[in-house]
Amino acid sequence: MIRLTNLYKIYNQSLQNEFVALKNINLHIKNKECVVLKGVSGSGKSTLLSIIGGMNKPTSGEALIENKAIAKLPDLHLSNFRAKSIGFVFQSFHLIENLSVYDNVTVPLIPHQKDTEQITQMVNNALQIIKIDHKKNDLAKNLSGGEKQRVAIARALVNNPNIILLDEPTANLDIANSQNLITILQDLKQLGKTVVIATHDTIFDDLDFVDKIVHIQNGEIVE
Ligand SMILES: Nc1ncnc2c1ncn2[C@@H]1O[C@H](COP(=O)(O)OP(=O)(O)OP(=O)(O)O)[C@@H](O)[C@H]1O
Ligand SMILES: [Mg+2]
Repeated sequence: MIRLTNLYKIYNQSLQNEFVALKNINLHIKNKECVVLKGVSGSGKSTLLSIIGGMNKPTSGEALIENKAIAKLPDLHLSNFRAKSIGFVFQSFHLIENLSVYDNVTVPLIPHQKDTEQITQMVNNALQIIKIDHKKNDLAKNLSGGEKQRVAIARALVNNPNIILLDEPTANLDIANSQNLITILQDLKQLGKTVVIATHDTIFDDLDFVDKIVHIQNGEIVE
C-alpha cells in the first residue's frame, strides 16, 4: 500500500532558486495495483517516484509505504526497509558494467547475509522470470539496451520486494524492446507486485493491466 497525503517537495527552499516540484499530492495505490505516473519532462514524476522509493524526502506531508511513514524512519531502518520492500529500476539502469549479469543481480542480496545456495537460487529465479538467464555470464557492458533493462529489472526483483518502481522504463528502448518490457510488467503484475511507472510514453496509455493513469502537470495531479 502506498498512501501520499498533502505531499510537497520544495527544492532549494528559502533560496533564490527555490522550486516547488510537487504540490499537494494526494495519492493512494493499493497492493498489487499497476499505476502509471504520466507527465511531460520536468513535471515531477521522478521526484514523486524517488519519494515513494525512500530515496528523497518530502518537504511536508506524509508518505506511507506499507504502513510506514518512510520519511520519518531513521536512516538505518529506511535502508533496511527499502532493501526488503522496494525494487527500483533507474532510467539509465545503473548496472556495474564490468560485472557479469549474474553478479549484478546478486548486489542487492549482499547486505542480507544469505548463504551461497540461497543466493544462487534467488538470482537464477529472478533471471528466469525476466528471461535473461541465457546471458548470465556475460558482462553488463556487452549487453544491448533492452538486455540491460531486463537485468536492471531482475536486480530490482531479486529480493522479492512487494513494490517495484520504474523510472522511464522505455526511454532507452526501441519499439520491439518496449513491447517486451510491457510483457515483463504484465508478468510482475501477475506475480502480485505493486508496480509504479513514471513515463511520458504513450505506449502505456491503453494497457488493460494498468489500473490507473495519474496525470502530473507542474508538480500537481490533474484529472
Ligand atoms: N535536486 C534538485 N534540485 C533542484 N531542482 C530539482 C532537483 N531535482 C529535480 N528538480 C526540478 O524539479 C522538477 C521536476 O523534476 P523531475 O526530475 O521530478 O521531473 P520529471 O517529470 O521526472 O522529468 P523527466 O521526464 O525529464 O525525467 C524539474 O524542474 C527539475 O529541474
Ligand atoms: Mg524523470
